[in-house]
Amino acid sequence: MIVLGIESSCDETGVALVETAGTRVPALRAHALHSQVDMHQAYGGVVPELASRDHIRRVLPLARQVLGQAGCALSEVDVVAYTRGPGLAGALLVGAGVACALGAALDRPVLGVHHLEGHLLSPFLSRDPPEFPFIALLVSGGHTQLMQVEGVGRYALLGETIDDAAGEAFDKSAKLLGLGYPGGPALSRLAQQGDPAAFKLPRPLLHSGDLDFSFAGLKTAVLTQVRKLGDELDRRKADLAASTEAAIVEVLVKKSLAALDASGLRRIVVAGGVGANRLLRAQLDAACARRGVRVHYPELDLCTDNGAMIALAAAMRLQAGVQAASADYAFDVRPRWPLASLTEG
Ligand code: KG4
Ligand code: ZN
Repeated sequence: MIVLGIESSCDETGVALVETAGTRVPALRAHALHSQVDMHQAYGGVVPELASRDHIRRVLPLARQVLGQAGCALSEVDVVAYTRGPGLAGALLVGAGVACALGAALDRPVLGVHHLEGHLLSPFLSRDPPEFPFIALLVSGGHTQLMQVEGVGRYALLGETIDDAAGEAFDKSAKLLGLGYPGGPALSRLAQQGDPAAFKLPRPLLHSGDLDFSFAGLKTAVLTQVRKLGDELDRRKADLAASTEAAIVEVLVKKSLAALDASGLRRIVVAGGVGANRLLRAQLDAACARRGVRVHYPELDLCTDNGAMIALAAAMRLQAGVQAASADYAFDVRPRWPLASLTEG
């Protein structure tokens, strides 16, 4: 079975083809991506209307590119998958509209996928795929969650951020340091030249005894330091970046270990854009190696938003029999959609 997947929830248009055979993990045939980062950079963040318009421009050329790369005819596609939510309503409607139009024209069923389920399952396309059950640390621009994953479609929420997401903390701090948008990767690069112990920044909820996160206070602490430094900021910027990254990463690692301890599981999957962060990977790998816990990541190019994870999640849902693709082309997107609500019963 060949699944065409379309991602358009935020600022990347992604299209991919995966192929399933029996019960084997679906194989990625081809994927293509267009990032809108350059376009939104001038505004310091994503402009939803511009995002939607750009998805419209990109999605069909990307689909043609992917079909060409895979040597696959459009008529060979069995199911068309799209990101149904969460995300920007207008942006989601582009992918959903195109997927449903393709499905109707080809007389093939469609399947709307949860964006975070895509992230969470994306390590199955890596060279070192996980096995169920596992703990998942989902760290993106909009979400920070710890989930217990028993199988496809069986997700229990263990803890989440009560305010800003980890990616948001990176992005907002980076903006305060004048590093542009999205600031996560830039802040992380600058941090390599700085001293992570130079500034004492808060580790919110580190000892709260639960698995929730809070990052809003950190951004305020960074702002306070920026104001205090004044003209000195340029000279100390790398130190402040390193201290910020260290604070975010320490909380993510400690809470992940607490989730592993509480569940008794020996396997963790890290997914979402912040999962590309080098310090997070190094510290989590070291802590997990000491405890005999296996850590799985998506390949680096599939850490941030992409179409491959959407095609994969659809294919795995179909394989596991948790959802059937549908010929109801009345697409409805869900800009707000809790992942745990996918679990039935
Ligand atoms: O998963 P993603 O591509 O989009 C959402 O679904 O939100 O995540 C984007 C987030 C942004 O906040 C970006 O700054 C962050 O991931 N990010 C990073 C790194 N690469 C991406 N944060 C820290 N270090 C990185 N290397
Ligand atoms: Zn994402």
